[in-house]
Amino acid sequence: MARVTLTQYLIEQQRAGRVTADLRLLIEVVARAVKAISVNVSKGALAGVLGEAGTDNVQGEAQKKLDVIANEILLQANEWGGHLAAMASEEVEEVHQIPFDYPKGGYLLLFDPLDGSSNIDVNISVGTIFSVLRNTAAQGDPTEASFMQPGREQVAAGYAVYGPSTLFVLTVGTGVHGFTLDREMGSFVYTHPFMTIPGATQEYAINSSNARYWEPPVQRYIAELQQGVDGPRGKNFNMRWVASMVADVHRVLTRGGIFMYPLDEKCRASGGKLRLMYEANPMAMIVEQAGGAASTGRERILDLQPHKLHQRVPVILGSKEEVERVVRYHAES
Ligand code: AHG
Ligand code: MN
Ligand code: MN
Repeated sequence: MARVTLTQYLIEQQRAGRVTADLRLLIEVVARAVKAISVNVSKGALAGVLGEAGTDNVQGEAQKKLDVIANEILLQANEWGGHLAAMASEEVEEVHQIPFDYPKGGYLLLFDPLDGSSNIDVNISVGTIFSVLRNTAAQGDPTEASFMQPGREQVAAGYAVYGPSTLFVLTVGTGVHGFTLDREMGSFVYTHPFMTIPGATQEYAINSSNARYWEPPVQRYIAELQQGVDGPRGKNFNMRWVASMVADVHRVLTRGGIFMYPLDEKCRASGGKLRLMYEANPMAMIVEQAGGAASTGRERILDLQPHKLHQRVPVILGSKEEVERVVRYHAES
């Protein structure tokens, strides 16, 4: 059987009227950038890309060399195509405008260039996350306010996971579809059509070193999982925490489960740990498109009205029944 590539998939989506020509181009360019990031990530020490960059980003976090490289690759790849009005990145404080010598398009692109930075130097899976919005600004350069749209307005979202293989997972609002990078051919092959999150699960992901900071509903939920067959759930649960959101969410998408970075006393002042615009929103769209749910514990993530580019939020996502239970525990407490 002939192999379907990402290019062919996107052309078919365009013919069916599900994506515009510009959105197709945008996604192709992001996928091309992902290939370049994948090359750098997999060369590791051979290319001298491991270790610290010696700078801090807007979040006050020390940047790794690969954070900087991945950010540059995405910015440069997307500047000249004419499909974007502006970009925003975890690694860039302000809105990144399209240089004046290139034409501008109707979309806004947001990304976390390299997710899971703490895993770079230990050779564990990292990723890239992206989100696409329409530019609603009537005229002039887009501003931060142009990006302040709830996640339900996203026209596309996706991630790449740089693991044993490089996978590109995409939604344009018609289900979630995965493509595996064929390194020899240099193309993404359609390997994972209509990815869905199994409803029932026996696996959870949370950084339990924060347990003493959690709120009572999260304490209650995790305690019940840990009681296993002897507790109210009557079954045993397994635990996994990669500390790369992309890898953890990809596992949830593949075999079910719940992923949580909830509000706790440690991150309360900043609103949460994960970033709304380029981590929570795109992952929430993907998870909902795959039949799961995504909440802060109190609100549906995709309904949140953003108020700043680098806003942080609590994230609870995955199998629907589990997310609904955590939401109920929040309501009850
Ligand atoms: P980033 O590397 O883009 O800053 O994101 C890291 C995030 C996320 O990928 C992961 O789930 C979480 O931080 C891990 O946090 P802990 O180190 O607190 O476990
Ligand atoms: Mn991240
Ligand atoms: Mn990052």
